[in-house]
Formats: sequence, C-alpha cells, structure tokens
Amino acid sequence: MNNKKILVTGGCGFIGTNFIRLLMKERDYHVTNLDALTYAGNLENLADLEKNPRYRFVKGRIEDEGLVESLMKEAEAVVNFAAESHVDRSIKSARPFITTNVMGTQVLLDCFRKAGCHGPFVHVSTDEVYGSLQKEDPPFRENNHLRPNSPYSASKASSDLLCRAAWKTFQVPVIITRCSNNYGPYQFPEKLIPLMIINCLQGRKLPVYGDGLNIRDWIFVKDHCKGVLCALEKGRPGAIYNLGGNCELTNLQVVETILRLLGKPKDLIEFVNDRPGHDRRYAMDIRLAQRELDWNPETDFETGMEKTVKWYMDNQSWWENILSGQYRSYYKDHYGRDL
Ligand code: NAD
Ligand code: DAU
Repeated sequence: MNNKKILVTGGCGFIGTNFIRLLMKERDYHVTNLDALTYAGNLENLADLEKNPRYRFVKGRIEDEGLVESLMKEAEAVVNFAAESHVDRSIKSARPFITTNVMGTQVLLDCFRKAGCHGPFVHVSTDEVYGSLQKEDPPFRENNHLRPNSPYSASKASSDLLCRAAWKTFQVPVIITRCSNNYGPYQFPEKLIPLMIINCLQGRKLPVYGDGLNIRDWIFVKDHCKGVLCALEKGRPGAIYNLGGNCELTNLQVVETILRLLGKPKDLIEFVNDRPGHDRRYAMDIRLAQRELDWNPETDFETGMEKTVKWYMDNQSWWENILSGQYRSYYKDHYGRDL
C-alpha cells in the first residue's frame, strides 16, 4: 500500500485534520483533501503540510459531481469525513445536512464506481444512527436497527443506507465505521468539551443541557483515527465496524473533570433548557473491530483530557481566531480567492 493515493473528504474539520496528520506521519500515502471550508473547516489546521509533495488541498463540495469525478480518476481509495456534524445546528435547519450528508455521499459513491476505483471506500459514520439507549440496555451492536432521533443522525443513517445499497447492488467496496463521541485537539468550539474548556478559560458559565445526566461514550480522537486507518487497511468490504472508547460518562462528569483540571469552581455550571429530542445514552460494543481489525482504544479519559486541556491552553490563538471569525480569512490570504 506504499504511495497509495487517498482521497480524504472533510480533512479541514476536527477528525479529518487529525486523520491526515496521522497518515502523513505514519504512512507514505499521497493525500488529496477535498473540503468545502464551511464554518467547521479550518485550512490553518494543516498549514504546515501545504508544501509537502504528498499532500494537496482542493476546495470544493462533495456534491459537486464534475469536481468529484475528476478527483476520483486519480484516487485509489476514499475516506469520507465530510459532513455537517452538529446536532443543535440540524435542529435549527436540516437542509444543509441533507445536501452534504445524503446527496454528497451518493455523489461520492457514484463517482467512485464510475471511475473504477479499487477502494476501499471508507464511510465515517456515528453511533447516533442507532438512536438512544436506556440505562439497562446492552451497548449498540452493528446489526441493531437504525433509530436516529435528530435530523443530523437521520441524515447520517441515510448515508449509511446509501453505502449499503452501493455495496449490495454494485459491489462498491464500502466499509462503514460508526464511532462514539470524539474529543481532542482541533475540535470546533461548538461541541461540549472544547466549549466548556474555552468558557472556563474565559471565566464564563458552562451551559449544561437538562439535568446533565445524558451519557456519552468518549474516545480520544487519535484512537478513532487509528480505527479508521485499520478499517482502510484491513477492513472487509461490506462490513460495518463500531468504534468507541469504552468510556461511558454523564455530561456532568465530563464538565466536572474540566473544572478540576483547570482548578475552577463548580458554580460555573449553569443548567439550561434541554436539547429537543436529546438522546439519553450511547454505548458501543466494539468487539467486531477488536477481532477483525486488531484495533483498541488506547487512551484513557484522564490522559486524553489532560492532553486536550493543555492543547487548548497552548493554542489560544487557534480558538480566538475562530471566536473572532478571523480564521475565515486564511483561504483568501493564501489563495487570493474569496471563500
Ligand atoms: P467537523 O464538523 O469538525 O468537520 C466537517 C468537515 O467537513 C469540515 O472541514 C467542513 O468544511 C467539511 N464539509 C462540510 N460539508 C462539506 C461538503 N459538502 N463538501 C466538502 N466538505 C464539507 O466534523 P467532525 O467532528 O470532524 O466529523 C467528521 C465525520 O465524523 C463526520 O462525518 C461525522 O458525522 C463523523 N463523526 C464525528 C464524531 C464526533 O464526535 N465529532 C463521532 C463519530 C462520527
Ligand atoms: O456520538 C457521536 C456524535 O457526537 C457525532 O456523530 C456528532 O458529530 C458530534 O457532534 C457528537 O454529537 P453530540 O450531540 O453527542 O455532541 P455535543 O458535543 O453536541 O454534545 C455532547 C453532549 O453534551 C450532549 O448530551 C449534549 C450536551 N451539551 C452539549 C453542548 C454543546 C450540553 O450539555 N451543553 C452544550 O452546550
């Protein structure tokens, strides 16, 4: 697989950035990063790779058939991270989620097939497609019914089904990964952990939805990226692999960890209105990935959170540029074109 040509979509987002960094460090692959630079895409994340001959950035949308067709002709394998990813935004407006997550995935699948790519086509999905668990339920298995509850998770479930159809009908060698909640460097500050760290650093209140007892399974982003790489290199076409951190915590436990690491008082916590349709609990059964991909999450929550808090403290200008909107001018400054 040396020098393999990989098309990565959504590489300027949180997980895509960490994945491309992992690829460039640990493999000889040639990477094309197709990213639309929506509000969640930050070109500066990969600025140090710009002159690397194994890396190329292309600004564009995954639903742009002409562009995707031309990029597929040069690609051997695909890893699709591109998505609208934030549940609260999907509640305010579902349409961009349908455009990117559903239509965009179908365009990628069609162009992959037409170009005769060898593959695989790794589709990065989420535990949220399974819906919500009650306290006593066993963790999600890959063959559970899909019961998505938000427009975001419904759009991701739709894209998973389109991937399944492409495999069954056309033998497109699709591999789906479904991962739990990620945290770590480069996460956009609308998500729980970076939002809370930054609010703490700024002495602001920490808005916890509802009673704060919703449970998520947390995984350090680098462990997720290693799982996606294992799926790319060792995955079985047509397979679905659950990935997770084996680390179920309530939101309050997460927020209290941040307060402790930053030495801040608990009275910064402010309970606010709950998210409509808020899933109560996610948990993942990851035994298939452990067995077939020889993959395991390696970072315990305490270590991962220490690294994450330190990263946000050391990279204040990264998140200040996002809060001020300054990060949006990086593309124009470097490519001379408007976003
Ligand atoms: P993110 O929102 O940080 O990044 C998404 C990236 O996709 C951005 O760079 C954005 O510019 C790009 N993008 C959006 N629409 C596009 C389009 N139409 N064409 C091309 N690029 C486009 O997301 P993330 O948290 O890095 O998540 C990446 C993927 O992993 C998503 O598919 C998400 O569903 C999945 N996932 C995320 C998590 C998590 O905890 N964050 C967990 C499991 C799965
Ligand atoms: O489970 C995987 C999913 O994790 C991914 O597919 C999504 O792309 C990703 O955004 C994430 O979804 P969540 O909705 O779980 O993540 P979020 O960080 O938005 O919220 C985590 C929990 O924290 C959730 O129970 C809602 C709660 N929350 C969130 C925010 C932003 C709060 O209590 N207060 C907040 O301000």
